[in-house]
Amino acid sequence: MKLAVLLCSALAVCHGAEVKQSRKFPNYFVFGVGTAAYQIEGAWNEDGKGENIWDYLTHTNPSAIVDQSNGDIACDSYHNYKRDIEMLRELGVSVYRFSVSWSRILPEGLSYYINEAGITYYNNLIDELLKYNIQPMITIYHWDLPQRLQELGGFMNPLIADWFEDYARIVFKTFGDRVKFFATFNEPSEICSGYGSLGKAPMLNETGFGDYLCARNLLLAHAKAYHLYNDEFRPTQGGVIGFILAVSSTEPLTDSEEDKFAVELYSQATWGIYTDPIYSKEGGFPKELVERVAAKSAAQGYSRSRLPDFSEEEKAFILGTSDFFGVNHYSGSYVSQTLYTSQHAIPSALDDIEMGTYAPDEWLQSASSWFQLMPNSVHIFLKLINARYPGVRIYITENGWSSREGIVDEDRVNYYRSALEGVLDALDEGINVHGYLAWSLMDNFEWMAGYSERFGLYEVDFNDPNRTRTPRKSAFIYKNIMKTRMVDHDYEPESYVMTIDEGH
Ligand code: BGC
Repeated sequence: MKLAVLLCSALAVCHGAEVKQSRKFPNYFVFGVGTAAYQIEGAWNEDGKGENIWDYLTHTNPSAIVDQSNGDIACDSYHNYKRDIEMLRELGVSVYRFSVSWSRILPEGLSYYINEAGITYYNNLIDELLKYNIQPMITIYHWDLPQRLQELGGFMNPLIADWFEDYARIVFKTFGDRVKFFATFNEPSEICSGYGSLGKAPMLNETGFGDYLCARNLLLAHAKAYHLYNDEFRPTQGGVIGFILAVSSTEPLTDSEEDKFAVELYSQATWGIYTDPIYSKEGGFPKELVERVAAKSAAQGYSRSRLPDFSEEEKAFILGTSDFFGVNHYSGSYVSQTLYTSQHAIPSALDDIEMGTYAPDEWLQSASSWFQLMPNSVHIFLKLINARYPGVRIYITENGWSSREGIVDEDRVNYYRSALEGVLDALDEGINVHGYLAWSLMDNFEWMAGYSERFGLYEVDFNDPNRTRTPRKSAFIYKNIMKTRMVDHDYEPESYVMTIDEGH
C-alpha cells in the first residue's frame, strides 16, 4: 500500500487516495507576491525619470497593445506605494518582489547621471517594507530598458554587460544595506523575444539572430553583475543573488523516443539555453541545441552558426553564477515533432527546433490565449528542473492565473490551491523548493495585452483616478494558505472585508 494511502486512513482528511489538507509547508518556506516597475508604477516621466522601451513602444506604436493602453499611470504605485504595502500586510506575506526601473534611476541608462528622486522612491519603499518586517526582493531588470540604450543596440550590443554592471553597482551600493535578495534578470526568454520576434518591446523581429545574440550578451551581463555582488558587496552585505527563468510544463505527446527527445530539445531552446550555462556541470549552451542550430545555419548557407558560442573563458565566467533558481511558471503543453507546422519564419528559433505544442480543448482556458491549465503543471515543471539540475534550490518567483474583471474569481482560487498542492507534492519528493511568490499583488499593465488580462489578487479600478484596489476572493484564500501554511480546500472567507492581522 502506498504511504499516502496509509497516512490517509490515519488522518481522515484525504481527497481520493492522496493526503491533502493535512500537509504543511515547512518553516523555511517563504510566501510572498510580486510586481514589476513598468506594470505598476506609472509616473512615466515624473521627477526626472527617463524614457524606456515600453514608454517608447506604447507612445509611438499604440496599436501594438491590445487595448492601445500604456503604463503612463498604470496602478500609480509611484504615488500609492503605501497602500500597496498595506495590502501586503493585509495578506500577511513575508516577501515582496518588485523591480527597480533602470531609467528612473539612470534616465539615460548610463551611470554618469543618477536621478536622486528615483533613489528616494525606492528607499522609501524599502524602508516602509522593513518597518513591517516584509523582506524586499529586488528584480534588477524586468524588461524596461532605457530607450537610450536601445538606440545603442540594447541587448544586441555586447557592451550591455558593462552598462548592466554599472547599473547593478548602483543598485547594490544604494539598496544592498537593507535588501538581501536580488535577481538580475526576469525571464531572459521574454527579454530576448523582443529581439527575435514581435512579441515584446522593442519588437525588432530579427528572428533566429536577435534572440540568440541577446541570449549570449544577457548571460554575460548577468555573470558580471553576479561576480560584482559576490566579490565587492556580499562580503559586507551578506545577501543572495539569482536569475529568474520562465519554465512551462511539458510532456511528450506520445511515448515515442522522438517525442521524448522533443521535450528535451524544447526545454533546451526555451530555458536550457539560459540555464545550462549557469547550472550544468560543464557550462555553455545545451549540446543538442548548439548542434541543431549549427546544422540548420550551415544548410541555410551561413558560414557560421547563428547561435554564437562562448569561449572557454566565458563559459567558466558564467558557470555557477546563481545562488538559487528563480522560476516563473504559468502554462503547460504536450510537445511533439509530429506537431511541427512549417509556418515559422526562416530562420527562426522555432524553425530551428522543428516541433509543435498541443493543449487539449478540455484544459481550462485563462483570459490569456497562451495560458491553459495543464493538470499537475506545477509538480511537472518542478520535476523537470530538478531532473536537469538535481538538488538545485528553487524559488517560484511568479505563478498565478489570468481572468477578466470581477471580484469572485473561482478559477484563480482553484488555480492557487492546485498549484500549491503541486508544490507540496514536490516537497514530499524532496525537491528543494524554498518559496512561492504569487503573481500578482494586483491587476497591472499586462504588456502587449494592456489591461485586458487581469492577474491580480486585488482588482484595480483603472477608471478611477485613485486606482482603488479591492481584494478578490483569491486574496482571502491565499491569505489563509499563508497563515495556516496549509491548503484548505473547504475554507471560505466569512466576508470580503480585508483587515490586517496582529503582528503585520
Ligand atoms: C512576467 C510578468 C507577466 C506575467 C504574466 C511573466 O512572464 O514576468 O511580468 O505579467 O508573466 O504574463
